[in-house]
Amino acid sequence: MNHDNFLQIAIDGPAAAGKSTQARMLAEKLGGYYINTGDMYRALAHAALQAGIDPEKNPEKLLALLPEWELEYQLDKENQPQLYFNGKPIAQDKLRNPQVTAIVSQVARIPQLREWMLDKQRRSRKLGLVIMEGRDIGSVVLPEAKFKFFITASPMERARRRLAQSSEVSSNASLEQVAEELQKRDFIDSNRELAPLRQADDAIKIVTDGMSKEEVSEMLADMVRKELP
Ligand code: CDP
Repeated sequence: MNHDNFLQIAIDGPAAAGKSTQARMLAEKLGGYYINTGDMYRALAHAALQAGIDPEKNPEKLLALLPEWELEYQLDKENQPQLYFNGKPIAQDKLRNPQVTAIVSQVARIPQLREWMLDKQRRSRKLGLVIMEGRDIGSVVLPEAKFKFFITASPMERARRRLAQSSEVSSNASLEQVAEELQKRDFIDSNRELAPLRQADDAIKIVTDGMSKEEVSEMLADMVRKELP
């Protein structure tokens, strides 16, 4: 199938930089579909926990299960993309909790698992205008995307934002602990051998310190609208 690159928007950046919020807002403004590839890795991290597998010590056990697993975004009744794992919708509280967050980067650094994931991520292009968010979207998953944004913020600003998302951090976590967890994950994500976190050469970098969600979102939407055919 031929996929129109004008229908692809890639958003990458480090943890807790505000990518998800921006991808969601952009999808609303432009009438597109928001695809969260972090949730796809989180779904496998959740499945690893369920199966009692430590992805760092026994990646081969995780790889052995992949042929039995299916992962796909499908549209729900409200026409919104919903992630399905083995034919069942998977709820956000299964994906965004401290246990999953603690191991997801170990899951995402397994090269064969990333290869398995690539095809599942690219499949969502069939939906139409997709705003896909992650770490390697502009560089690896959708290198042909017409629009590529790399969204970031200073480490302390990101830690403050993550701490405000209470469901994603342990209830008694301090700002320093959250900053350390983000730093650990960014280190693994940036230094893995396959598809590390990096800004694609043709991506536009946006540092969001001191900007409101709405300001960033308007800036992105303006850039896209100017170029749309
Ligand atoms: O929302 P947050 O910034 O915490 O991270 P996420 O987007 O949910 O991604 C969780 C983890 O999945 C990342 O730390 C990466 O290890 C991995 N990931 C990846 O390797 N490649 C992607 N395209 C997206 C996520």
